[in-house]
Amino acid sequence: MPANSSLLILHPRLFLFLARPPVPAAAFHTYVHRFPLPFSSASTYSRPLSASYPALPISANFRARHSSSSSAASSDTFNPNLNETSNSGARSGSRSSPPVIDAVEKIDVNPPKGTRDFPPEEMRLRSWLFQNFREVSQLFGFEEIDFPVLESEALFIRKAGEEIRDQLYCFEDRGNRRVALRPELTPSLARLVIQKGKSLSLPIKWFAIGQCWRYERMTRGRRREHYQWNMDIIGVPDVIAEAELISSIVTFFKRIGITSSHVGFRVSSRKVLQEVLKCYSVPENMFGKVCIIIDKLEKVPLDEIKKELRSAELSDTAIDELLQVLSVKSLAKLEEKLGATGEAIADLKQLFSLAEKFGFSEWIQFDASIVRGLAYYTGIVFEGFDREGKLRAICGGGRYDSLLSTFGGDDIPACGFGFGDAVIVELLKEKGLLPELNPQVENIVCSLDPDLQSAAAGVASILRGKGQSVDLVLENKPLKWVFKRAARINARRLVLVGNAEWQKGMVGVKVLSSGEQYEVKLDELE
Ligand code: HAM
Repeated sequence: MPANSSLLILHPRLFLFLARPPVPAAAFHTYVHRFPLPFSSASTYSRPLSASYPALPISANFRARHSSSSSAASSDTFNPNLNETSNSGARSGSRSSPPVIDAVEKIDVNPPKGTRDFPPEEMRLRSWLFQNFREVSQLFGFEEIDFPVLESEALFIRKAGEEIRDQLYCFEDRGNRRVALRPELTPSLARLVIQKGKSLSLPIKWFAIGQCWRYERMTRGRRREHYQWNMDIIGVPDVIAEAELISSIVTFFKRIGITSSHVGFRVSSRKVLQEVLKCYSVPENMFGKVCIIIDKLEKVPLDEIKKELRSAELSDTAIDELLQVLSVKSLAKLEEKLGATGEAIADLKQLFSLAEKFGFSEWIQFDASIVRGLAYYTGIVFEGFDREGKLRAICGGGRYDSLLSTFGGDDIPACGFGFGDAVIVELLKEKGLLPELNPQVENIVCSLDPDLQSAAAGVASILRGKGQSVDLVLENKPLKWVFKRAARINARRLVLVGNAEWQKGMVGVKVLSSGEQYEVKLDELE
């Protein structure tokens, strides 16, 4: 019920402002730009990264103690011999509190190196990303799970010499347990599956979004903490599970505007390596180690790789053959080399055939050099990459049919992927696809008189009760300030509680995009 004529009897501050010309939507942008937020929406993600390669967090002393630490770690009994600098020379394991340093006057306001704060504009971007992760997972019928960020260190220690082990944030807690901040989610998933045991009905389709910690050399898109979206299928031995997973990532990419001309998946199978190693009678227990060595092919000089392979009991002929096979980029060529009968070829052919049915053929390509850097993969492995080759892997995953048994559970076929939050933001930035995410609130409610503060709070409660979001002005602010704030938070309308209207059981409303203004009875305020 527009009531421009009644403006004259309104509170003078309300009159002045309601009588202003409407503020067109475009002008709100001007407001926002005139009063910019201190960070751009990409600032945290684009913060320049140090190229220095810091010392690893694990001391030699620490490592030397590790083998005997797990039994001590399970003990909750207080050890009086354990003082503040016991064993490792660090304070971990101590039951005393951190020392109070009197001299500290100012704290470093930056978060620890390689970690991020998430002020609102960064949080909006993160929430948008996670919302898409969640919606895609749910679209594919996956249920969300989570685990503690702090896990038992033993969960992440594998023998194969993975880089991830050296990047572990690990310490002894006050109960002398060896613990670690999780560097990935898969071991926790395996732990939970074993813990739930027979109560789970297979197949399980679970997804998680969680923060992971790796003391990593920082490059573009690689940091010391990152969030990972994981989707895993437990209990399906067939390659259709891998196809379903890749299809879900493709669905995610399409949703956020990334096409197959921007990114692709390199796909192979660890069974390719297994078949080659079998030909050369390399012991099975060397398999994980060989995969980890091969994964470093692009980062480490070839001579070094060969040296490491020799130490993993491979002959020079086996090494040459292996390196040749790894350079193969087509399935037909691989078939020529390995023959048509092996499981590697069968799985890969099936995946490519399923890709056609799922409709993501143009996204995937065979590349025998993809082995991945985690020891537990046993079959198909894949990595998402940007076609311009500017960024590190966007995501990666594969089949890990034996991980559960390495933790003492029954072997259950499993596959999944991890997708980080950092590289994808870099890619969206590169392609100009970062969404514009502004704060959004439906109403801003303000009293025009200090005596009406509580009345305004009541109006806010009424609106919130009707499901409308309200930013209540909590102090007695000039209307100029209220309008600026309304523009900054993209409020749809301004609800003003002034004396004259309040006497009549009414409030003044201004629709900020159109300038429409009216008085409305409190019980008719929608
Ligand atoms: P991953 O390849 O180590 O696999 O990590 C998966 C993804 O996490 C990477 O492709 C990248 O997007 C992101 N990521 C990893 N490290 C960092 C880092 N330091 N900074 C920023 N992003 C990072 C795994 O973690 C497996 N657990 C994935 C998996 C799940 N396999 C089966 N299920």
